[in-house]
Amino acid sequence: MGEEIVKISDLSASYDGEVALEGVNISFYADDFVGIIGPNGGGKSTLIKAILGLVPYAGTVNISQDVVAGGVGYMPQQNLFDKEFPLSVEELVLSGLQRRKGLFGRYSKSDKLRVKAILEELSVDNLAKKCVGELSGGQLQRALLGRAIISEPKLLILDEPANFVDNRFENELYTLLTELNKRMAIIMVSHDVGTITTVVKNVVCVNRTVHRHPTAELTPELLANYHCPIQVLSHGPVPHTVLAHHHDDCHCGHDHC
Ligand SMILES: Nc1ncnc2c1ncn2[C@@H]1O[C@H](COP(=O)(O)OP(=O)(O)OP(=O)(O)O)[C@@H](O)[C@H]1O
Ligand SMILES: [Mg+2]
Repeated sequence: MGEEIVKISDLSASYDGEVALEGVNISFYADDFVGIIGPNGGGKSTLIKAILGLVPYAGTVNISQDVVAGGVGYMPQQNLFDKEFPLSVEELVLSGLQRRKGLFGRYSKSDKLRVKAILEELSVDNLAKKCVGELSGGQLQRALLGRAIISEPKLLILDEPANFVDNRFENELYTLLTELNKRMAIIMVSHDVGTITTVVKNVVCVNRTVHRHPTAELTPELLANYHCPIQVLSHGPVPHTVLAHHHDDCHCGHDHC
């Protein structure tokens, strides 16, 4: 295990008195590639936003100096991104360098070349001048990823990065993330439990409370504290899907829970 880079102690977070997270004690490490899973409304985005300091919380979140200095790359869940903002794809990706530049810093020629290279890598170079409001879901997802990685952060946090993207890009995305994980820690929220087990190193289940599993292997037993029906893809000789049964206090809002 690498150096501890994020340490969360006794964290709780509420919105208008409604508890979203409580009793959270968890650490993340320099070589982590963690998948965060859990039902809708379980608190995954809130956990991420607490690490980023974007929501109020009780308790402590300590982030190592190294990560603070190198910055944190963040790809928000798409429904949290304001598409109306009048910005081109190129400007959106460049804005990932803003923290380093300060408010009035100028972008250099090499910054712009780096944007070009990233847009090419993500196959959206033809959309550089297009306004973000005109992009398809998958195109916007790629541009948001470009913004998150352009500063080469020490910690990359992705909230459902595979939403809206096609299968081909999803595979490219995971290959890219595996490559990036050689030089940065990655925390990724995903609903795709089957993929999570093949891509990430560890899984964290979030459903009002948080559990870190020591492996990416997910069995129905391990998911018992997931508190929601979930499809588990077993990677045996005959792949099959198991529907874990549900019990009390589910927050996912499904009728069958
Ligand atoms: N800005 C907000 N104002 C009020 N309540 C909120 C806000 N953001 C989240 N919540 C509530 O907090 C709880 C946790 O939400 P959160 O977005 O963290 O869940 P999630 O696990 O990311 O869900 P999803 O899978 O749907 O993205 C939910 O009950 C949600 O309704
Ligand atoms: Mg969310």
